[in-house]
Amino acid sequence: MCGIFAYAGPDNCTKVIIDGLKSLEYRGYDSWGIALKTRTSIELKKNIGKVSEIGELKSIKAKAGIGHTRWATHGNVSVENSHPHTDSDKRIYVVHNGIIENVDELKDYVHGDLFYSKTDTEIIPKLIARFLQESTFPEAVKKVVSLLKGNFAFVALDRDSNYLIAARNGSPIVAALNDGNFYISSDLQSLVHYSDKAFFINDGEMVIFNLANTSIEFYDFFNRKSIQKEAQLYDIQFADCERGNYKHFMLKEIFEQPRQLQKTYAVNVSDFDIRFHYALDPEMFKNLRRIVIIACGTSWHAGLVAEYWLESLVKIPVEVEYASEFRYRNPVISDDTLVIAISQSGETADTIAGIKEAKQSGAPVLSICNVPGSTITRISDATLFTQAGPEIGVASTKAFTTQLEVLFLLTLYLARFKQKIGTKDIINYLKNLAEIPEKMERVLAQTDQIVSIMETHYAVSNALFLGRGVNYPIALEGALKLKEISYIHAEGYPAAEMKHGPIALIDRNMPTVFICIRDQSYEKVLSNIQEVKARNGIVIAVANDNDRRITKLADHVIFIPETIVELSPFLTVVPLQMLAYYIADKRECDIDKPRNLAKSVTVE
Ligand code: F6R
Repeated sequence: MCGIFAYAGPDNCTKVIIDGLKSLEYRGYDSWGIALKTRTSIELKKNIGKVSEIGELKSIKAKAGIGHTRWATHGNVSVENSHPHTDSDKRIYVVHNGIIENVDELKDYVHGDLFYSKTDTEIIPKLIARFLQESTFPEAVKKVVSLLKGNFAFVALDRDSNYLIAARNGSPIVAALNDGNFYISSDLQSLVHYSDKAFFINDGEMVIFNLANTSIEFYDFFNRKSIQKEAQLYDIQFADCERGNYKHFMLKEIFEQPRQLQKTYAVNVSDFDIRFHYALDPEMFKNLRRIVIIACGTSWHAGLVAEYWLESLVKIPVEVEYASEFRYRNPVISDDTLVIAISQSGETADTIAGIKEAKQSGAPVLSICNVPGSTITRISDATLFTQAGPEIGVASTKAFTTQLEVLFLLTLYLARFKQKIGTKDIINYLKNLAEIPEKMERVLAQTDQIVSIMETHYAVSNALFLGRGVNYPIALEGALKLKEISYIHAEGYPAAEMKHGPIALIDRNMPTVFICIRDQSYEKVLSNIQEVKARNGIVIAVANDNDRRITKLADHVIFIPETIVELSPFLTVVPLQMLAYYIADKRECDIDKPRNLAKSVTVE
């Protein structure tokens, strides 16, 4: 969603901010803008479309500036609505992420002022300007943050004083100071070029940078007091954020999966014993009778896979909820319920709200997250980190498989805690898990086969994905991958549900992708394939190596190595990610930044 990048210092401000905005592009946006503070004025440049489309922007001699990529919420996509916004005097410029909910009420403070945009943001510079009549810029910002309701992160730049100020309540923001260069960003990854340490700004905190003496101050606006903050080292490498020789980040991330799985395994398991990297306090599970998993999108699909594992190995009831529904449903949660929140970004607004709801009901919350320092990790009682590295393609791939790995390790851990499983079984499961990366490499080696399937079917308008048991969520995930990056309408279903509706869609133009591995439903799924063929449908099957029966039935088969059924999702999902990728590439879609989508959905 929206991205903020601000800079103050001796370097070329225009370039640093434009580069910063480019590194935030993957979050998804439809317009952008920057404001640069020169010696006497503030220069503004805004546009709709992509920052990368502008070519080289003429550099202005500036000492500070703020930039923004906007994903429209309040007001359509237009230059007027893009940020930065300013006050009537053009003194204060603001970029903002989040939603201010009490704009109508706040307009009373700036009675008579004309509003030029349809955004909720414009009220912020106008209010700051209003309070500047009686206070300094930092004091005026402090007054404004005490009035705002809703989620926000904003940065304000003043034409007439030497401060650059950021405030956070609900939307992420990080800052870095390195040798007189000051950076603010909504995303840690975009700071990787500039500093290996960052200040993580919490809700209710302001950071005030003084351009004149390059000093930095922190202020807690919930408790109205100055606070001290140390910059923290973070573990993201420059290369992790580069595309390398891959055409798209998504392709790079698909191919990185074996390595990231090995890394996730290595930090959590040693000598066939699960010792989570960030040790879990067993107290958290002492009353455990039920698990509720909350998540959105692909992370929700990971939760559905985990439901199968947890119920069959830990033998306690599990419910998997869309975080957006959970929070508004008055869910029955008590202290014997463990709430597991899954999120790649750690910033998804609905998942954050779901965690808050769960905590109010007294349930312990364990999150599974890919981004250290993110909001979800800060508000959960404990976090297990996936070691996927930065995921930049909007469509989640390596985050999903590493989430699965952490969820499987958690399942084994809880099964042992509940004494449902012995050491021998755990070792056996772990051995199978440790073999997954090498088996995944063999799936990844089948690009030619997947590309040839793509060549035949890339122009279709609809597709159906069917799977059963632990691979039903993979059918959902395959459909989601295809629709979000190629804009082909795709549906995922449990294979047995086909006869209850989707079979009506089958014709000679629509491919049905079956996940048909040798599990307890194998024969039944084979029958479903025959039913599709009997209606002249096209069948693409993901099946186990050497499955001759499938070869005779399906139009195309992608083979995967054998593993235990529980772990098959790690292997069945990869060809579906690849198929979606190559189809979208053939259709010349903007794969890493699909239309209308955002990498982290920070608004509800
Ligand atoms: C799909 C995708 C989204 C995310 C969803 C949740 O490829 O990436 O569906 O999974 O927006 O995001 P996180 O995991 O960051 O909470």
